[in-house]
Amino acid sequence: MSADFSEFGTVLVTGANGMLGQDLCPMLEDSGYEVIETDIDNLDITNEIQTRNVISDVKPDYVIHCAAYTNVDKAEEEQEKAELINAKGTENIAKACNANNSCLVYISTDYVFDGTKNSPYEPDDMTNPLGVYGLTKFHGEQAVQKYCPKHYITRTSWLYGHHGKNFVETMISLADKPELKVVNDQVGCPTWTVDLSDAIISLIDENADYGIYHTCGGGNTSWYGFAKEIFDQMHMDVNLFPCTTEEYPRPAKRPKYSIMDNQGCLRDWKLALKEYIELRVE
Ligand SMILES: NC(=O)c1ccc[n+]([C@@H]2O[C@H](COP(=O)([O-])OP(=O)(O)OC[C@H]3O[C@@H](n4cnc5c(N)ncnc54)[C@H](OP(=O)(O)O)[C@@H]3O)[C@@H](O)[C@H]2O)c1
Repeated sequence: MSADFSEFGTVLVTGANGMLGQDLCPMLEDSGYEVIETDIDNLDITNEIQTRNVISDVKPDYVIHCAAYTNVDKAEEEQEKAELINAKGTENIAKACNANNSCLVYISTDYVFDGTKNSPYEPDDMTNPLGVYGLTKFHGEQAVQKYCPKHYITRTSWLYGHHGKNFVETMISLADKPELKVVNDQVGCPTWTVDLSDAIISLIDENADYGIYHTCGGGNTSWYGFAKEIFDQMHMDVNLFPCTTEEYPRPAKRPKYSIMDNQGCLRDWKLALKEYIELRVE
């Protein structure tokens, strides 16, 4: 697992088989980085010794930490597992990065906020997660800040990509229902994994200041607005209706307002969706 020399440096990616990892890794390679792809089969982040050994063997310039427990609803009944992966696993990564002078990029989430604000969230706004997933990801942020000073925390939201289960594909698969109701009182920023990968690569390319960044799609919408745009762009005639959160109860509570200020670092979400749909293979 040792890396060849690359003038841009070596990047170890955790959770490389996930939805983000599968877009990020080839884009890093195209940008000139030597990429070491890892996932649970060769780097289980909950195994402290394995984590330390793998990172000290590779001595990467950067670790982009995509591995996570990501099932928001199931986390409500699997709190221990979510905490082990998202908090303890991230602590293991942060300590190993610090010991090897590697810069750590941690992918976090809008679900660290409670959604009670009514203007876009800034990186230093108060966090207050509503559910287990958001709480465990927040504990991951704390571990990164405590154990690895050389870090970027990039909070993203409403992620979709060609290599994973996501809202866009779920909506398309439901298009032939006689009637489709989608929540209209939760607003946020849809983000394509390719645009997020670009933003992450820019951070490390440009040697940006360490700290927290909001890396979500530009503009904002509700889940209903997102669904409507998907069907419009797909030229699909769907019997779509807005509904309230109360009409569509889920095990995990979600923030009603999770719009983040991305400082213009990602393009408008509708433009990204258009490209995603054009490149989509049925
Ligand atoms: N998806 C979203 O809407 C969203 C929104 C905001 C932030 N994020 C964050 O963005 C990042 C990437 O998300 P994603 O959607 O690409 O997630 P994903 O598709 O679920 O990928 C996560 C990867 O981590 C792996 N993994 C799980 N436990 C592990 C362990 N103990 N050791 C090593 N790898 C492990 C998973 O393997 P298995 O599949 O075998 O479990 C999977 O390959 C995550 O940090 C997530 O919290 C996601």
